[in-house]
Amino acid sequence: MTKTENVAAATKAIIKKQGNSKSALIAVLQDIQETFNYLPKDALKTASKTMNVPLSRVYEAATFYSAFSLKPRGKNIVKICKGTACHVRGAAALQDRFESTLCIKPGETTPDKMFSLETVNCVGACALGPVVVINTDYHGQVTINKVDKIIDKIKKEGA
Ligand code: FES
Repeated sequence: MTKTENVAAATKAIIKKQGNSKSALIAVLQDIQETFNYLPKDALKTASKTMNVPLSRVYEAATFYSAFSLKPRGKNIVKICKGTACHVRGAAALQDRFESTLCIKPGETTPDKMFSLETVNCVGACALGPVVVINTDYHGQVTINKVDKIIDKIKKEGA
């Protein structure tokens, strides 16, 4: 099977599980995102055809929600809060440190696909600022000195 065929087959299996109705589109996209860690073009085309939803509508949904990504993302998503409370407590310096440690800018993924870096607005934990959310884990009062430790820990766990 080619990569395209694999993606199409996996997408069809997801649609079979979630149902073919148009109202299942978001659930289907969520499952595709979970399976591939992003939304491959071939998966979106397959969803469009199989669910009989115009491709433009599929893309509209895929680009509306920030949880979806059209680009391959890393196994670990690092989100640096740039909300006001975190900003005044040094989020910019933290961002610099993550950028230099991972050698990527926000919106990019490391070549080994281990990390993607993103900036987000308030994640609702202002009292803990500056906050960094890695996957589903909240890290509060993160200092520049903690950045390398956090990254090393994740690398070790992933090894
Ligand atoms: S501003 Fe960062 S959690 Fe609210």
